[in-house]
Amino acid sequence: MDKLVHCGGIPSHENVAERIDTEVPGFLVAPTRHLFFTGKGGVGKTSLSTATALTLADSGKKILLVSTDAASNLDEMLGVELRNSPTPVPGVPGLSVLNIDPDSAAESYRQRVLGQMDAGASETERATVREQLSGACTTEIASFDEFAALLADDAGGYDHIVFDTAPTGHTLRLLSLPQAWSGFLAGNDRGASCLGPHSGLKM
Ligand SMILES: Nc1ncnc2c1ncn2[C@@H]1O[C@H](COP(=O)(O)OP(=O)(O)O)[C@@H](O)[C@H]1O
Ligand SMILES: [Mg+2]
Repeated sequence: MDKLVHCGGIPSHENVAERIDTEVPGFLVAPTRHLFFTGKGGVGKTSLSTATALTLADSGKKILLVSTDAASNLDEMLGVELRNSPTPVPGVPGLSVLNIDPDSAAESYRQRVLGQMDAGASETERATVREQLSGACTTEIASFDEFAALLADDAGGYDHIVFDTAPTGHTLRLLSLPQAWSGFLAGNDRGASCLGPHSGLKM
């Protein structure tokens, strides 16, 4: 480190090359199971999360790279279309990529709740539930549901899950949802909400 020549805080070119050769960040030496790249737009979340996922996959690990950013450019970085289910990245054994798309998450959430309804439920009752589940809060909670499933110990059999998150405000909202919704559920005794009939939450 003491060999680095700084110019306005930025290391000079020759020393950048030396640093890249010799310094491996701690999160690559002993990576945690979940790795989150967060921060404001444009700070390098997508670049670093992709580089990290590629490095870990190259070392023989099974990796899932997840985008929670609606405006993600991961598809351009990896040359693969982003989907709501893990998609293998061509040319990189062990690496799959997944985009948590809020609208697709909400639609599969609606399908799950509707699928749990009594077979004898009328079309009107189904339409009512579908209507209850058409708002922004359903979309939000459905995205969180998919996100939280990835935090489970055995999620998909991946060695590491790398998150390329949306800019800070959106991500803080995502992480604070359990607290926000616990309060809502405790104070709501109507038995139904934008989450659907509460029985739907037990799935
Ligand atoms: N470590 C870095 N050094 C210099 N430029 C970088 C670095 N990481 C990313 N960039 C550049 O900064 C821009 C934004 O990077 P990106 O990874 O898309 O940020 P984010 O996902 O946080 O919005 C891109 O043009 C990228 O090439
Ligand atoms: Mg990005």
